Amino acid sequence: MENDVLLNGVRITTELPGPNAKKIMAEDEKYLATSTKSLPVVAYRGQGCYIEDVDDNVFLDFSSGISTTNIGYGNEYVISKVQEQLHKLWHFAGTDFYYSEQVEAAKALIGVSPGSHDKKVFYANSGAESNEASLKLARSYTKRPQFIGFIGGFHGRTMGALSFTASQPVHHEGFFPEMAGVTHIPFPDPYRNPFNIDGYEEPEDLTNAAIDYLEDYVFGKFLPSNDVAAILVEPIQGEGGYIVPPMDFHKKLMELAHDNEILYIMDEVQTGFGRTGYFFASEYFGVDPDIMSVAKSIASGIPMGASVVKSKYNFEKSGLHSNTFGGNLLASVSSRATIEEIKNKNMVENARKVGDYLNKRLHELQEKYDNIGDVRGLGLMQAIDFVKNRKTKAHFRGLRDKTIENAYKNGLILLGAGESAIRFIPPLIVNEKQIDEAIDILDNSIKKAL
Ligand SMILES: Cc1ncc(COP(=O)(O)O)c(C=O)c1O
Repeated sequence: MENDVLLNGVRITTELPGPNAKKIMAEDEKYLATSTKSLPVVAYRGQGCYIEDVDDNVFLDFSSGISTTNIGYGNEYVISKVQEQLHKLWHFAGTDFYYSEQVEAAKALIGVSPGSHDKKVFYANSGAESNEASLKLARSYTKRPQFIGFIGGFHGRTMGALSFTASQPVHHEGFFPEMAGVTHIPFPDPYRNPFNIDGYEEPEDLTNAAIDYLEDYVFGKFLPSNDVAAILVEPIQGEGGYIVPPMDFHKKLMELAHDNEILYIMDEVQTGFGRTGYFFASEYFGVDPDIMSVAKSIASGIPMGASVVKSKYNFEKSGLHSNTFGGNLLASVSSRATIEEIKNKNMVENARKVGDYLNKRLHELQEKYDNIGDVRGLGLMQAIDFVKNRKTKAHFRGLRDKTIENAYKNGLILLGAGESAIRFIPPLIVNEKQIDEAIDILDNSIKKAL
């Protein structure tokens, strides 16, 4: 009942940030060792697509806890399942012992994974940790030391995952040397084509340029392909700017990988669980990755990550890899219930339908503002890219940042991506009316920022 207040739309009652928010932020600065805060939103509670802050302001959240609360806030079914488990038992070492909840969560996850369901799950606690497990599996299975990653990619910040992350230099400042054996190649970005093909005609030309680069310049010049264990790649680059490669890219790259007995690891940490209008974006690209890293929305915010692997790539020896909390009881129960909710409430279909509507509304804004150079995305993973000039496509970071700040002051939570893009990742239960509400705020925010 109380939560109904939250479902009535945006309500901003104080100057932002409000007095209670300011107090908490000051203490946060004193007691927490963080380096990545972007907006002064101090959350108190959430419902559906809305977040209420500690000063009674209500925001429309188009960040979903960075693509983690795909099912929205306060989902009653997931709450009831987690509560029930909390009273029975909330932790027991799944590393050494057994419980059915982890098995049931794995069955549910395999059931919605792309391609063949002859798969196994290794549970971790975050996206970075899932990638660590995926990389170790690939090394251990192939007995090869080298890897391929992508410029603009993001895979987390632990030392192994960080070695692949290549979206901002600051992520690496003072941290070298990292994991050895990672070669980065350019990602086929259709908007800012890194291969300098003058006026390429078809998306396939871009795919071929990327594949040729790997074959001719990397395997052909310095890296023997039979030393490469795996390619780690996001289906759509997330932190790097919401870059959707040509549709045939992953299929062709995976074919090249397999021709060389190299494993294909798809990092679906940000794209997974219905976000793109597919349960996993791999389906859109028509690939069944050998290993898939997932996290974020897997358990709706109870920390969890997983590597979903074709059965033959299991860790073969006792003691090879493990962790204390992976597949924790609350996370397992939450994950299974989350997957059920996404299916039962047709959230994947909604992501596709409302995502198309969002894309259309963003294109309308592009017609209005010359500084919106590009609108791109899949499902409810959309972005706009601000440019100083449509011809040069020079990044307009200042306008992007000011727009996000203005939107926050008017009750819309947004996040940047890449150098000059804003990402739009509302919960998958968002409706067209809420998209209109967001677009109105966005429109005013851009107008004011110019
Ligand atoms: C594609 C991708 N992989 C990995 C990660 C790292 O996940 P975590 O922050 O849970 O370690 C992220 C986080 O944004 C991501 O977007």
